[in-house]
Amino acid sequence: MGKIDREKRLKERAALEAVKMIRDGAIVGLGTGSTAALAIAELGRRVREDGLEIIGIPTSYQAAMIARANGIVTRTLDDVSKIDIAVDGADEVDSEKNLIKGGGGAHTREKVVDGLADQFVVVVDDSKLVERLGEKFPVPVEVLPFAIGPVMKKLRGMGGNPALRMGVKKDGPVISDQGNMLIDVRFPEIEDPAALERNLNDIPGVVENGLFVGLAHVILIGTMDQRGGAIIRRID
Ligand code: 5RP
Repeated sequence: MGKIDREKRLKERAALEAVKMIRDGAIVGLGTGSTAALAIAELGRRVREDGLEIIGIPTSYQAAMIARANGIVTRTLDDVSKIDIAVDGADEVDSEKNLIKGGGGAHTREKVVDGLADQFVVVVDDSKLVERLGEKFPVPVEVLPFAIGPVMKKLRGMGGNPALRMGVKKDGPVISDQGNMLIDVRFPEIEDPAALERNLNDIPGVVENGLFVGLAHVILIGTMDQRGGAIIRRID
């Protein structure tokens, strides 16, 4: 099995496991990315085939579109008083359940929705596990477009190596769902993720960064047993 097929299978395994945790009547935060998309599709299947009644709170245009295509009723945060459970992917996960998110540029809304959930369930394949955050993935930072220059300077001053995220099949920078720009910052070492999360958000012009420290309740990791079967490892 190729690397891409393996990852897809493990993402699917984690997504399906997370959807089993969703109860009838729940208000559900709908994450962004390829793993969250698999969870939304499975949730839609349960709505259609099992008569499950839920309300989805999307974290992005992507999540909203997939939810609607799958027959899931969506609402905004103004319409609900709580979120029971949120299911979302991640770019990196450490052993303390801290995350880097924002590979899809949706971390700002994701942090709001996932952070409000009584239970925030993270769905990943085993390639996302790291000993230390920042090992493989830069920290995404959403920035007001007019503040890009000074924010880049500050990030360099903090020891980071910032790069403006550029579009694919779109010339120029990526624009977030909120109309902002994204900077991906590589840090030589992230010793204290909680402090870095706070310090990044203290920079004037920064809207939100992709470090999610102390927010996740459960991590569901799709992995493989010795016989090549897809299994779940769960961190509570
Ligand atoms: C989007 C995210 C995604 O959850 C993260 O990038 C993981 O994506 P995928 O499930 O496609 O690997 O944070 O902003």
